[in-house]
Amino acid sequence: MSQKTFYVTTPIYYPSSKLHIGHTYTTVAADAIARYKRVTGYDVWFLTGTDEHGQKIQNAAEAQGMAPKAFLDNVVDEIKDLWKTMEISYDQFIRTTDEEHEKNIQGIFMKLYEKGDIYKGEYEGLYCTPCESFWTETQLKDGKCPDCGRPVQKTKEEAYFFRLSKYQDRLLKLFEENPDILEPKSRINEMVNNFIKPGLEDLCISRSTFDWGIPVPLDPKHVIYVWLDAICNYISALGFPEYNLEKFDRYWPADVQLVGKEIVRFHTIIWFSILMALDIPLPKKIFGHGWILLEGGKMSKSKGNIVDPVTLIDRYGVDALKYFLLREYTFGQDGIFTNEVLLNRLNADLANDLGNLVSRSLSMVEKYRGGVVPSAGTKTAFDDDLVAVATKAHEAVDQKMNRLDYSGALDEIWKVIRRTNKYIDETMPWALAKDAAKAGELDSVLYHLIESIRLVSVLIQPFMIHTSRAIWEQIQIQEGALTAWDSCKAFGAYPTGTTIKKGEALFPRIDIAKELEALEALSAQKKENAEKETSEPEASTAAYEPYKEEITIDDFGKLDLRVAKIEACKPHPNADKLLILSLKVGNDHRQVVSGIAKHYKPEELVGQNVVIVANLKPVKLRGELSEGMILAASIGKKLTIVNADIEDGSVVS
Ligand code: MSP
Repeated sequence: MSQKTFYVTTPIYYPSSKLHIGHTYTTVAADAIARYKRVTGYDVWFLTGTDEHGQKIQNAAEAQGMAPKAFLDNVVDEIKDLWKTMEISYDQFIRTTDEEHEKNIQGIFMKLYEKGDIYKGEYEGLYCTPCESFWTETQLKDGKCPDCGRPVQKTKEEAYFFRLSKYQDRLLKLFEENPDILEPKSRINEMVNNFIKPGLEDLCISRSTFDWGIPVPLDPKHVIYVWLDAICNYISALGFPEYNLEKFDRYWPADVQLVGKEIVRFHTIIWFSILMALDIPLPKKIFGHGWILLEGGKMSKSKGNIVDPVTLIDRYGVDALKYFLLREYTFGQDGIFTNEVLLNRLNADLANDLGNLVSRSLSMVEKYRGGVVPSAGTKTAFDDDLVAVATKAHEAVDQKMNRLDYSGALDEIWKVIRRTNKYIDETMPWALAKDAAKAGELDSVLYHLIESIRLVSVLIQPFMIHTSRAIWEQIQIQEGALTAWDSCKAFGAYPTGTTIKKGEALFPRIDIAKELEALEALSAQKKENAEKETSEPEASTAAYEPYKEEITIDDFGKLDLRVAKIEACKPHPNADKLLILSLKVGNDHRQVVSGIAKHYKPEELVGQNVVIVANLKPVKLRGELSEGMILAASIGKKLTIVNADIEDGSVVS
């Protein structure tokens, strides 16, 4: 029989170097279900990635005077680093700027077009640039974008449309006949009553006012709407329709697609209609989880109130953060994050329950049996109940995990931990140790403790693989039969006579009052730094920008720096932040587009000699060719171009 497959996806993230714990929530949840399915025998494909097209990205890159791809490469590396730190076990990281993806999206566009589900028309509507979303007048909230509350812009342009309206009845029927396809169930009512029943309008799926996107194959002055491009990543990643249909056949339809609640609309109405139009099966389930909120509302970079996962990982470890996210919040509902909630949870469940169990059990094996785990000896009155609770847990965990009830699954495992701690109180090994006649019972207690710890270490694997491994090291078992999921179904596989190796405390107890103060101080410091970064610095302020990684003289030698004379300068017709400069570099003349419009008026620049990077690969910035880059120095928000009182054409080295 061929191995069962399991395909799980996260949304693809907007590239922002500051992903907060809200973002990590979706990924941590996807990671746990992927790991769970792997240990229970599935061939898993876990997809995540980045959503890299659209005006927002183009604007962000331009603000830094960079070509979008170069700008994105840096940020995507940072996101990948974060996932590495968090031990996210994805099988594939898709970027919507991947060549294969771009070809697949064009292939999908053509399929829809050939089917008659895409047509050309004129779009007049309201667009929210930060959300890359179109809205109708009635969908606005107080005249603003209903998702982010920011103003929307009226736009009118020739555009391609997807016949979304055609799928209205099929969607209604789908939710009626197959309510399991979207969870939690309350989200179905929201989709049906707020969006589908009031009437679906055809969807504008191309833009022509900017060019950072995948060109419409028939009409390259249009780019494909970023949500169509992004949402199809889930099948494009599997090679559909231009590459590798074998992978697509193997893993599609997805078993579960995890998304935050605000993007359920895209992942049901639009996504399902596209799949219907393509005549391919729908995913088995979309799960719209809730938000992690702060006391003041949603976390956002612009509000400056984000909780940085790296800070928490540095202080408490990656497993503690993963455990907290999945245990504290009910997947599907919103929850509030505070430092206090976090620290209390870590102390109670990790330091006290799990950490203590492991440390006191191993200490007793050391103290009473010289570190060697004895065979089970003489049964105590409490053994049977412990064994029953420990061996039954996996069934409940299976059930809860298959419903994506992470918090419930962890609670089932903690029942075993708490039962085992209670077993220590009941059997009182320290009292047994005082009575030679009770040596057999003490053996039994010690064996039962270590075997229960083994079962727990196996069950926590999908959530906290680090901790599982640390426990395996301490109880001296190898990854294999003794750590396999099925080995939790029976008690007694732990090999007697093993010498344990007690290690560091798994989760040191936190002094909550002190730690709260430290976290407060840290966030005050961060706020201060952020304010400093955005305020004009004193002329004498030393640069607080850290130095970059060291390079060799050969690396430096690759740069061709030249002095250039600015002969003419004008604003970019399509971008407020950009200036177009005509340069003379000795006998050569060239054009450079630079993101310095906020700092200089064009007339101030004409006649100045500046330094340029002359061998930078030319790019088009908002349709204008840029052949090089002007050097500028910045401190805080202040930016000054590097002037050179030197003849143009001179080589700087
Ligand atoms: N790029 C789109 C998704 C396209 S999928 C075809 C996007 N990206 S995002 O970076 O803004 O969000 C990625 C995920 O993070 C979403 O599922 C979103 O709901 C989740 N979260 C962002 N902030 C969150 C919280 N504060 N809490 C929980 N999840 C949140 O949307």
